[in-house]
Amino acid sequence: MSSEIRILVLGCNGQVGSEIKYLQRQQPDHNEWIFWQRSDLDLTDTDAIETALTQCRPTVVINCAAYTAVDKAEQEPELADQINHLAVRALAQTCQALGACLIHISTDYVFSGTHCQPYRPQDATAPAGHYGLSKLRGEQTLRASGVNGVIVRTSWVYSTFGNNFVKTMLRLGAAKPALQVVADQIGSPTWARDLAQALMQLAIHPDLAQKTGEIYHYSNSGVCSWYDLAAHIFQAQNLDCQLSPIRTEEYPTPAKRPYYSVLDCRKIYEDFGVRPPYWHHSLVRALKDIQAQ
Ligand SMILES: NC(=O)c1ccc[n+]([C@@H]2O[C@H](COP(=O)([O-])OP(=O)(O)OC[C@H]3O[C@@H](n4cnc5c(N)ncnc54)[C@H](OP(=O)(O)O)[C@@H]3O)[C@@H](O)[C@H]2O)c1
Repeated sequence: MSSEIRILVLGCNGQVGSEIKYLQRQQPDHNEWIFWQRSDLDLTDTDAIETALTQCRPTVVINCAAYTAVDKAEQEPELADQINHLAVRALAQTCQALGACLIHISTDYVFSGTHCQPYRPQDATAPAGHYGLSKLRGEQTLRASGVNGVIVRTSWVYSTFGNNFVKTMLRLGAAKPALQVVADQIGSPTWARDLAQALMQLAIHPDLAQKTGEIYHYSNSGVCSWYDLAAHIFQAQNLDCQLSPIRTEEYPTPAKRPYYSVLDCRKIYEDFGVRPPYWHHSLVRALKDIQAQ
């Protein structure tokens, strides 16, 4: 691509969007970066999507906006579908019409979680809840649109910005003498800053415009359970909180979680040279960043 890339980031106040904004301000480049939050474009207003994008004329759109309330989605599936599916259709169709590339983020929740080896992008999907289903429909509509661009599935995202498991563990670990955490769900935590860096690499990669709805996986490398992750957080921060492992059945949630959601991330390395850092190394860096806040 030329040096004239105009990159529009949607959902710039979420975990991933905030990290892109942070990195872009740390390392300004010659590209034009535009950051929109909900008040700039509300994705529940499907008609506004075409109008706003047509006025903006981006070269690349990175969609970090989503309905991400996994449990609440069981009560409001229409809203989840509106934002994660119908809005993505409008985004994809408009990008296609404008000749813009779309980078869209999806989730490990499109899988059933019954595998015992890392999920590859082409593996069969079977979401267990409305959030996963809405995200899967978003993927499908993007691919059907023929837009140039990619879907990047990720998992277990945490960040300095927003609310997430890591920040909850820091808060609870400091406040409580003991805590029980689920130990039979296995996945790969992902520092949103690493994912943001990867998405920024993709956005300016010359091969992006040759991809049409290809699916990639990106999570930090290595695997752990939520219990392992909490244990590493407590150890790194010297938190004197007694941690006990429990089974999923002992911590019921409205939406079912996948037992196993490790993603095979080889394809994003093969096609774009993006290699995710090891989760524990990223966690140490993220904890320093969160503490410095
Ligand atoms: N978090 C995870 O563990 C995880 C795991 C796998 C995949 N993902 C995927 O990764 C992507 C980014 O996730 P995240 O953790 O960064 O999410 P997040 O922190 O919840 O941010 C989502 C953003 O979407 C915006 N948004 C929600 N509804 C909107 C609407 N109607 N119009 C415009 N903007 C709207 C929110 O705006 P407000 O700030 O105004 O609310 C928020 O800034 C999503 O596609 C998600 O599905 C996340």
